[in-house]
Amino acid sequence: MNQNPPPAPRPAYQNPALPAEERVADLLARMTQAEKIGQLGQVAMFSFAERREEYLAGARAGQWGSRILAESAWAGNNPEPALDPAQLNEVQRAAVEESRLGIPLLYGRDVIYGHRTVLPIPHTYAASFNPDLVEQALGDVAAEAAADGVRWTFSPMVDLVRDPRWGRVIESCGEDPFLTSQMAVAAVRGFQGDDPAAPGRLLACAKHFAGYGGAEGGRDYDTTGWSENTLHNMILPPFAAAARAGVASMMAGFHDLGGTPSSASQDLIRGWLKDGLGWNGFVVSDWGSIYDLIGHGVAQDEREAARLGLAAGLDLEMTAGFYERNIGALLDAGTLPEAWLDDAVRRLLRAKFRAGLFDRPYTDPALARTLHCHPDHLARARELASQSVVLLKNQGGLLPLAPTLKKVAVLGPYAEARREHLGSWCLNGRPEEVTTVLDGLRAAAPGIAFTTANAAFSDALIDTARQAELTLLCVGESHLRNGENKSIAELALPPGQEELIAACGRLGLPLVVIDFSGRYLPSPAAEAHAQAIVHAGSLGTEAGAALARVLLGEVSPSGKLPMTIPRCTGQIPIYYNRKLPAKIAPTCATYRGYEDERLTPLYRFGFGLSYSTFRLANLGLSSGTMPPDGTVQFSATLTNTGPRRAAEVVQLYIRDSVASTTRPERELKGFQRIELGPGESARVSFSIAADQLRFYTANRRWELEPGEFRLALGTDSAAPFTHTLTVTGTPEHNAKT
Ligand code: NOJ
Repeated sequence: MNQNPPPAPRPAYQNPALPAEERVADLLARMTQAEKIGQLGQVAMFSFAERREEYLAGARAGQWGSRILAESAWAGNNPEPALDPAQLNEVQRAAVEESRLGIPLLYGRDVIYGHRTVLPIPHTYAASFNPDLVEQALGDVAAEAAADGVRWTFSPMVDLVRDPRWGRVIESCGEDPFLTSQMAVAAVRGFQGDDPAAPGRLLACAKHFAGYGGAEGGRDYDTTGWSENTLHNMILPPFAAAARAGVASMMAGFHDLGGTPSSASQDLIRGWLKDGLGWNGFVVSDWGSIYDLIGHGVAQDEREAARLGLAAGLDLEMTAGFYERNIGALLDAGTLPEAWLDDAVRRLLRAKFRAGLFDRPYTDPALARTLHCHPDHLARARELASQSVVLLKNQGGLLPLAPTLKKVAVLGPYAEARREHLGSWCLNGRPEEVTTVLDGLRAAAPGIAFTTANAAFSDALIDTARQAELTLLCVGESHLRNGENKSIAELALPPGQEELIAACGRLGLPLVVIDFSGRYLPSPAAEAHAQAIVHAGSLGTEAGAALARVLLGEVSPSGKLPMTIPRCTGQIPIYYNRKLPAKIAPTCATYRGYEDERLTPLYRFGFGLSYSTFRLANLGLSSGTMPPDGTVQFSATLTNTGPRRAAEVVQLYIRDSVASTTRPERELKGFQRIELGPGESARVSFSIAADQLRFYTANRRWELEPGEFRLALGTDSAAPFTHTLTVTGTPEHNAKT
């Protein structure tokens, strides 16, 4: 007879059939205070090989809730060793099978825009104005990273940026809240899919909450001073969009915002984000940003810093261990309410259930081989890279390269570069897998002799240019001059490159300058000497192949600038959605702005040329009045009037003529990328909902103010305002907090 007692019933939190909230509540009720505090900490596990036993013991003891898969705080700029899924499984097994409650660790990594397949960097892919393609391509990236055991990525970065000197502009989608929001939603959907628990998906993280992109002087980590009006109308909307899209987490920034470090901002995190939006995800600190509260001078010591962090609503501490060492004492002293601890743990556990970690904690080490650099991923990366290229100038239709050309020189520091195309957040991309510009061109056009010269010797380079019919001069700053903690004081190409462009230009032969900088830099020499200027940015693994398609005319360029390009550093900040000074109005014709420079930028937001031409005609508005909950259609006919198949991005702008606060000169409210064959037309229609006309008013809440709005449709931010829409109702009626 069997004497064994019947097996203990499975606890509710281990039952995948139950709703996540029920599992969270059940698990939370079983946890000790120490186990709860353990969940609030993230560890890096540096020098794993030497300290293996210590880390396994910590996992068994439930000492941490998460592990960041990075070898240093500068993971983006340092070469990182490949991930080892077997090692991740080993640590996970200690947590899941040997800790008291078996709570899995959440593995996070900076999978920002690529894994083995590397896409263009966000600042480059923002120019595609194609969130659907971004979503698909980031889905591929998620699958590759998940195959290596990653379950959570610290992406997307949704910081709005107006100062391109800031090195982290390359991680942003530029200066516009609408475009940034669309790309944020695309990234969240790309990483998380419909269900982040599905194999091949990751939890996403919108960062850096909030306003980090306003670093004064473009110096990383510097103080920011966004006004309340700008914060609510420009900076916070992309976070709200990510929250509405169901982003699992957000990361607080390193910076000070108007006197309160963002990592200590109870108003913004606990107030605006959690209570205000009702968002139920979790907030992670940035690397050591709780530690930095001491550096900011708002905390005396680590205990005070930990208190400020948890009080603000930071649920998980990235490294430093301040929570681990201090939260217990703070709770015992009654300085922090237990309810805040429970709230933080609940949010973290919810994310783990959402990620399916309890039911599928391990990864199959064989999976990566079948997914990394999968041909479908590379094809999508190539397509996104092709759509991200911006043609800024094309005198005499020099591009695409004429099929009659026999000899073309491909010169400059980027002619044969590889690593540089991967950008400064490249942890798993392999330089040897990158197609160079030269290889891409040679493979695509075997009938043309593409010559090159060692970029280190300008005399050899000039000689090669002289002997060719046309030169493609590949310039730009590398990943070593942008990214985190890498800003520049002068918005210009790196030393020597202006001279190189001018020297090639003086030969009097056709010259195309291709800029591979991660950001948009003005180049006076290119303006003066090149007949064609292409902004390629950081295009990723498929850089050379994608660029060849554009240069040879297989596809027409369709990228549009996500950020204004100033004429010079002194014009910064200069952005299209600025508030015009009253003195610029027609009543004051003498307003000049600068004595030594024009007011206009070098290239405006939304601008980008095509190999074809387009006409936008027959604009029509379905109704001139908009009730408070209404919708109107604004339409036009787009015709490809040129000789080639090409895509154009039609852009919708509004202007609020008179309001309770000053309002931007114009604001992007919609865009559509449309591809047409020669002579083809399509009707393009934008649905404008009353909700899109709301803003943060003088009443300090989101409202729809009655009155007149001007509307413009066009192919860049110079589109003329042609129609008027009148919003009816009263401000009280239209109010919405
Ligand atoms: C610091 C960066 O600010 C953040 O964006 C990144 O995700 C973390 N380090 C983790 O590496």
